[in-house]
Amino acid sequence: MYVLLVVSLIPLSVASSTTTVKYYEKLTRQRISEAEFYNMPTNNNEFKVGIQSNTTQYYGSYDFVIVGAGSAGSVLATRLSEIDSYNVLLLEAGGEEDDFSQIPSMSFYLIFSDMNWGYFSTPQTNCCLGMKNHSCTVARGKALGGSSAINAMMYVRGNRHDFDKWVELGNSGWSYEEVLPYFIKSENSQVDGDTGYHGKGDFWNVAYSSPVSPLLSNFFNGSLQMNQPIVDYNGRKQTGSGRIQFTIKHGKRQSTGKAFLENARQRNNLKIRSKVLATKVVIDHTKTANQVQFVTKEKKFFVKAKKEVILSAGAINSPQLLMLSGVGPQSHLQTMKIDVIEDLPVGMNLKEHPMFPGLIYNTNYTLSGLSTEEFVKEFLKGLGPYTKTAGTDGVGFIHTGGNTVPTIEYLFAPPAGNISKILTKSFNFNDDLTNQMLNQIDPQRSILIYLVLLHPKSSGRITLKSNDPLDFPNVDLNMFEEEEDIDTFIEGIEFIRDLFATDAFRKIDARRVEIPVCKELRNKYREYWGCVIRQMTNTIYHPHGTTAMGPDKKSSVVDGS
Ligand SMILES: Cc1cc2nc3c(=O)[nH]c(=O)nc-3n(C[C@H](O)[C@H](O)[C@H](O)COP(=O)(O)OP(=O)(O)OC[C@H]3O[C@@H](n4cnc5c(N)ncnc54)[C@H](O)[C@@H]3O)c2cc1C
Ligand SMILES: *[C@@H]1O[C@H](CO)[C@@H](O)[C@H](O)[C@H]1NC(C)=O
Ligand SMILES: *[C@@H]1O[C@H](CO)[C@@H](O)[C@H](O)[C@H]1NC(C)=O
Ligand SMILES: *[C@@H]1O[C@H](CO)[C@@H](O)[C@H](O)[C@H]1NC(C)=O
Ligand SMILES: *[C@@H]1O[C@H](CO)[C@@H](O)[C@H](O)[C@H]1NC(C)=O
Ligand SMILES: *[C@@H]1O[C@H](CO)[C@@H](O)[C@H](O)[C@H]1NC(C)=O
Repeated sequence: MYVLLVVSLIPLSVASSTTTVKYYEKLTRQRISEAEFYNMPTNNNEFKVGIQSNTTQYYGSYDFVIVGAGSAGSVLATRLSEIDSYNVLLLEAGGEEDDFSQIPSMSFYLIFSDMNWGYFSTPQTNCCLGMKNHSCTVARGKALGGSSAINAMMYVRGNRHDFDKWVELGNSGWSYEEVLPYFIKSENSQVDGDTGYHGKGDFWNVAYSSPVSPLLSNFFNGSLQMNQPIVDYNGRKQTGSGRIQFTIKHGKRQSTGKAFLENARQRNNLKIRSKVLATKVVIDHTKTANQVQFVTKEKKFFVKAKKEVILSAGAINSPQLLMLSGVGPQSHLQTMKIDVIEDLPVGMNLKEHPMFPGLIYNTNYTLSGLSTEEFVKEFLKGLGPYTKTAGTDGVGFIHTGGNTVPTIEYLFAPPAGNISKILTKSFNFNDDLTNQMLNQIDPQRSILIYLVLLHPKSSGRITLKSNDPLDFPNVDLNMFEEEEDIDTFIEGIEFIRDLFATDAFRKIDARRVEIPVCKELRNKYREYWGCVIRQMTNTIYHPHGTTAMGPDKKSSVVDGS
């Protein structure tokens, strides 16, 4: 532990010396090429020996046993261990972050590393049709920091109406007004947003990546022409366009592992056990969860929880672990030969944010070619393209179809260097689609728009493959089962079309380049777009809803308290 920490501090202390620049150049080159040849795991067999162990050792007892050190678990462990009299154990399947994962622009490469679980969706029929095996990538962080250790770091809290809707559905205490103080409390915000919406002085650094592309000004001017005001989307009003706020600090990633756990891990009352797989939550005859079983690579353990077991293993693994523990849909558990403790709709209602990357505009603006060396030097000053994900600078939200909450989010990614190859790989595009997309993108001149559906009607489901914790769960995304979701996306596409027809984009001669898929439908507008969307849409890796909160046991798994 200490050795690791010292190693990662050396580069900081000698900020931009030649050795440090060379170190990062070599690191980037090496890890980019490792990502290219990385073999995704297809199960949890790294823990096989531990699972097969015949003896189960007692790991002691803690007030709180938290499973999963991700966005939620890291914060919970940090806050609970602020109370001296509590004893907290945090269990995590992954390991430490490293210098490479701290570089924001490298986030897509982390999908092809042991910091990602390695899931893909089951073969799909309504979506993921341009992907290998009709399977979308389902990225999920496996590290201290969880998905926040590999994510795109865009700090978007969610719309106030989404929180207020929770209250309407019977979950008191979850309105925006009631949760906002907790967001604010967590932050050390450097953004010049609306007063009363951003916090200073706590653990989580929120900042802009600088400098922005000169094209952000075209984006803002075009947005204004489209009646989209320029907003602090985490402030008074979300609808509009704005500069992206990132969870970064001096240009480096601020996962919840770095931001929160790093401050808490020296505390005597917090024990962090990484590289272990929780395999079961033990629930007693009073239906109280009071133990957790877990394995290391060699051994098997159980630990007692005096107050609570907290399951924060994410929207795919939490339902998996609940079902393995006997909590889930009765018939599914019976099929899997698991004793049913409670019949609840665990794993149902999988919601995602479908993301369509097929709107590409070429311009007559040229990004001057910076070398890796220059990028690294800038990065070490906390600046430049390495401090943002996929070159994204701007984001916006629109309403469609008379909705009161934004239904479409659009991300504005001006040219930012050589990223298209890892993008198409991360979407799991088949060879045809990969070549077609790469042929159309000019890394120095193309603007990419990522269009995101915020409230899809379609739902998917997480199920078990078997009762073996070594098996990955099935992730059935089932995007676009409902045609309405296609219609909403088309409204978003039309908005972007009009945005790029404004003077602000004419000034740079922006023209859409067409990816030659679904050509046979070219003269049937709706069918054409429906086909392109079903071919090219992956998700933006925001699974949720699989252990829904609500008062009704038929449709929800947990209550609001
Ligand atoms: C590539 C990518 C890009 C994203 N981009 C953004 C973005 O820009 N902005 C944004 O707001 N959100 C983004 N997200 C989503 C966001 O990161 C997640 O919604 C969030 O991190 C989920 O938090 P969580 O605590 O529910 O789960 P996670 O952070 O995934 O944490 C779950 C943790 O539990 C551990 N775990 C799971 N099962 C077990 C087990 N059986 N035993 C032990 N440990 C276990 C996992 O290893 C993991 O560390 C992105 C996600 C990904 C993957
Ligand atoms: C565990 O027990 C089984 C059956 O009793 C036996 O076959 C196996 O060798 C044992 N494994 C170890 C690691 O001792
Ligand atoms: C495609 O999916 C099926 C079913 O999940 C799986 O058995 C098969 O191995 C997959 N093929 C590839 C090439 O991934
Ligand atoms: C955007 O509009 C402002 C104000 O009219 C103007 O000064 C600026 O040059 C415009 N930017 C672009 C790129 O057109
Ligand atoms: C872009 O990446 C490819 C390999 O992925 C490489 O061959 C090429 O030299 C890179 N171009 C630049 C400008 O870095
Ligand atoms: C880009 O195109 C616009 C509109 O045609 C033109 O006015 C401008 O001079 C061009 N800029 C460059 C750098 O070619």
